Amino acid sequence: MRKVRFVEPGKLYRMIKEELDAAYFEVMERGDLIDRGQLRSFEENLARFVGTKYAVGLNSGYDALHMSLRAAGIGPGDEVIVPAHTFVATCSAVVNVGATPVLVDVGKDFNIACDLIEEAVTPRTRAVIPVHLSGWMADMVRVMEIARRHDLIVIEDACQSLGSSMIDPATGERRMAGAWGLTGCWSFYPFKILGGYGDGGAITTDDPEVALFARRMRYNGEDRETGEYHGHGFTCLLDNLQAAFLDVKLRYLPRWIERRKGIAARYREALSDLPDLLLPHYDDPRRDHVYQNYTLRAKQGNDFSEYLKANGIEVLTQFRKPYYRHEALKLKDRGFPETEAISREVCSLPMNVEIDDADIDYVIAVVRRFYGR
Ligand SMILES: Cc1ncc(COP(=O)(O)O)c(C=O)c1O
Repeated sequence: MRKVRFVEPGKLYRMIKEELDAAYFEVMERGDLIDRGQLRSFEENLARFVGTKYAVGLNSGYDALHMSLRAAGIGPGDEVIVPAHTFVATCSAVVNVGATPVLVDVGKDFNIACDLIEEAVTPRTRAVIPVHLSGWMADMVRVMEIARRHDLIVIEDACQSLGSSMIDPATGERRMAGAWGLTGCWSFYPFKILGGYGDGGAITTDDPEVALFARRMRYNGEDRETGEYHGHGFTCLLDNLQAAFLDVKLRYLPRWIERRKGIAARYREALSDLPDLLLPHYDDPRRDHVYQNYTLRAKQGNDFSEYLKANGIEVLTQFRKPYYRHEALKLKDRGFPETEAISREVCSLPMNVEIDDADIDYVIAVVRRFYGR
């Protein structure tokens, strides 16, 4: 039986092997291991790509969220609004600074339902973390309006949406995900649109104080020039070696995004006549989907995803069990109907730059066969 992997990191490596190998040998031969030129170069290139003044490399997307909350001074007694449908780390970062997460349901596009944000605001609300899921931004125009009205700090969880954008009505120009809030939080987990070869993350920001705070705190609070400790910090610096790899891959990102869009268009063309599928194509020309994931909803839930797996196709079904239903997390389930429906129906089809068109055609054929077409 044909096998279609969800991602094939080895194949992607072979596509750009020469450049990755050169980056590796440069780091090894120079002994550039911690906080060296490769990290600075990647940070500059990432900031330029996102359109912010600064980028600070960290160890993971979780660290980016955690550091952002600390930089904003959020802690015990504060409430932070987060979506009910997201990766658990969005919420865990809030809990781990001692604040209280307040969950809000999402809309049909998997992102926070802006209509529901205001009813979750209380006098204790300090911040909101919109998550840009799967490569499609939350409606940041509305999030920023609401935040202004209630004096909330905005921290963007952009871990799944590097390269996506929305037109900013203030300028009429595209503004990238991660360039709207106090910080944009990034993950370079291997299977992300820009993935390293281990954990990695970053924040982007226009605020020099926030950038300085993160630069110090990622390295035990130390100012590396003076040796002065500016607080009790952490060890969560982006590896120099990872930065060198990410810098190579970042150069390819624009053309890789085009390839992803091409695959999404192919899925759309071949599957949009199937009434039991909701495909991830949304009617908002202001926003640009970069398809970190091609996440659809299938009425048949597990029967659909299991059929694909039985036919050799790796799919993701994140998340069949919403994070607030995990007892140990002790979170309040205020009733999130859209998140519940999504959790039953969600299925991400293979979407990556290394996949062959023949594999995409096979996925399409299996999906159509499931529906007897
Ligand atoms: C939406 C979202 N937030 C946060 C994270 C956390 O990133 P990391 O795994 O790098 O800590 C991820 C990725 O795993 C994510 O997808």
